[in-house]
Amino acid sequence: MKFIVNGGKKLEGEIEVKGAKNAALKIFPVALLTKETILVSNIPEIEDCLRAQEMFEALGHKAKKISCGIIELKAQNNICPELPENLVNKFRASIMFVGPTLAACGEARFPHPGGCVIGAGTRPIDLFLKGFQKMGAKIEIKNGYYCLTAKKLKGAEIFFNKITVTGTESLMTTATLAEGETILKNCAMEPEIISLAEYLNKSGSKIKGAGTPTIIIKGVKKLHGGEYKIIPDRIEAGTFAMLAAASNSGEILIKNCEPKHLEALWALFDRIGVNYLLSKNSIRIKPTKRKLVSCDLTTHEYPGFATDLQPPFTTFMTQTYGSSLIHETIYDRRLLFADILTQMGANIIMADPHRVVVSGQTKLRGKKVVSPDLRAGIALLMAGILATGKTEIDNIYQIERGYEKISERLNNLGAEIKKV
Ligand code: EPU
Repeated sequence: MKFIVNGGKKLEGEIEVKGAKNAALKIFPVALLTKETILVSNIPEIEDCLRAQEMFEALGHKAKKISCGIIELKAQNNICPELPENLVNKFRASIMFVGPTLAACGEARFPHPGGCVIGAGTRPIDLFLKGFQKMGAKIEIKNGYYCLTAKKLKGAEIFFNKITVTGTESLMTTATLAEGETILKNCAMEPEIISLAEYLNKSGSKIKGAGTPTIIIKGVKKLHGGEYKIIPDRIEAGTFAMLAAASNSGEILIKNCEPKHLEALWALFDRIGVNYLLSKNSIRIKPTKRKLVSCDLTTHEYPGFATDLQPPFTTFMTQTYGSSLIHETIYDRRLLFADILTQMGANIIMADPHRVVVSGQTKLRGKKVVSPDLRAGIALLMAGILATGKTEIDNIYQIERGYEKISERLNNLGAEIKKV
């Protein structure tokens, strides 16, 4: 499938933010921790969530769609210890199934997880493996599969030598059913982690410190079911805000979001001169006659500027005046897409795989491009909307993995995107 974008249109109106992909993906594996039902709401209807649901079902459990954005999850008695390769290959968060599987069956087998190609080689899982080992798992590699066994998982003190979001979530989740106390140090502090910990605590877990660098988990014997409302997707909200600011054509109201999760973006908006207004659950971007000025960006773990917002920011900087040094510190392949922006008329110099300099303002021209990964894909869609002429974006699976009905929703703002 492709998107064909007729660019350069005025954007105005309202757009709603969907549930956070990176929170939603994790509730499927977490549902393995109890035999009771979990009712999940505000779940985005995106390809990655369908893959997580397929994995849940492939392992023998029941997922039932109740209505749009609401799903019921119920783990069954027999948990299959082997994660199917065809699904593990498709999304990195599949690794979240390992801990609950190990806790439930005493073993887990899985190949190396897939996901966006944004880091050198395959994205490593050493921090997960070290954590499971510390909790008592034995690890072997057989025929390309990691084979983990542990009769009983026990609490441990684990220091992450690199801050990892899914690593923090995975070990925090696994520790809820381990024997004794687990102390996780140098943890990631993303809002999705806090939300998951709050849900787990409501279900009977004893977790303290989520949202800080140290998380302490006291193992319990059993967890209950309950209700879990997925928090709004801060990456979607930030992307829409940057699109509105870059377009600078009409007033846009972004609804159902949590602006407080995007403080690093607002600090940059102030420097750039964006005309914006925040309220508790919405963001209003108004056009401005002032020249928007470029500014530098360094990505950072939360509460710093999210790497997932770096590609849209790079596109944004093609529309501001001056030069912007963009330093991507988390992934070493996430700036490569900037070359495609150059083909669309942007003035970008690549210093090294981690740094580019964007000089603006430049007029973007429509072009035939291929979406390399999810966040680069949305940044190219944004560029197509801002460009004059026709942009054809191929491989849009890589965009629809993370953004629900994105063409329809942006068309409601005045964009002209056809899906063919
Ligand atoms: N890392 C290791 N070893 C590990 C785990 C991670 O070296 O065992 C490295 C990674 O290679 C990377 C850094 O640590 O360089 C941070 O990776 P992290 O583990 O935090 O990333 P993740 O949990 O795999 C989540 C999001 C990503 C987002 C990052 C950083 C999910 C499903 N994915 O990934 O989202 O970029 O945190 O915020 O939660 C996206 O949505 O497009 C996306 C890639």
